Amino acid sequence: MTPAQQSAEALKICRLAPVVPVLIVEDLAHARPLAEALVTGGLPALEVTLRTPCALDAIRAMADVPGGVVGAGTLLTAADVKAAKKAGARFGVSPGSSPAIIQACQDEGLPLLPGAVTATEIMALLEQGYTVQKFFPAEQSGGAAFLKSIGSPIPQVSFCPTGGVSLKNAPDYLSLKNILCVGGSWVAPKEAMVRGDWAAITTLAAEAARLRA
Ligand code: 3PG
Repeated sequence: MTPAQQSAEALKICRLAPVVPVLIVEDLAHARPLAEALVTGGLPALEVTLRTPCALDAIRAMADVPGGVVGAGTLLTAADVKAAKKAGARFGVSPGSSPAIIQACQDEGLPLLPGAVTATEIMALLEQGYTVQKFFPAEQSGGAAFLKSIGSPIPQVSFCPTGGVSLKNAPDYLSLKNILCVGGSWVAPKEAMVRGDWAAITTLAAEAARLRA
């Protein structure tokens, strides 16, 4: 899969909703009800981070939730990419953009949202054909002000900023021309998952889904 094809897929996924939930699933039993709660609230694209022992099984459990598009985040190695694809991930997200991750996603045919935070990194990805990129960690790397500035010389790259994004600051990002959506963990708080309060998560998702009509 070429970078252009990957970015075309990433573009479609990022346009599904204003927010991509970033999920840290610690209990496999939470995976399916969590995905159902978020999709019901209006957030279909879900990023399951490969940070917990059950993350790959969580992707498997969520992959056939109706209306959902489940991807894998925190891809750090080529082995992560292979495992994520095998588990049923339909897209991948990486905090940065190492050559090994990029090659593995091309080989596996996994649409990739590669991470960048400087003009040089953004340009290096653009040279390869990646026009849709993750900006991480967003708040710590200059936030919406940075993205507004970079949109002037490099308008052909669109971003999904993630890291420190909240319901409160999301509109600052979403109002920019070069922002497709934001990513964030606030829509799936650990306490609500532990309580099994899926209705609360649906409410948070619905609130997030309304961010940009
Ligand atoms: C992450 O990878 O942790 C995401 O960027 C989520 O960041 P957040 O918890 O600040 O939303």
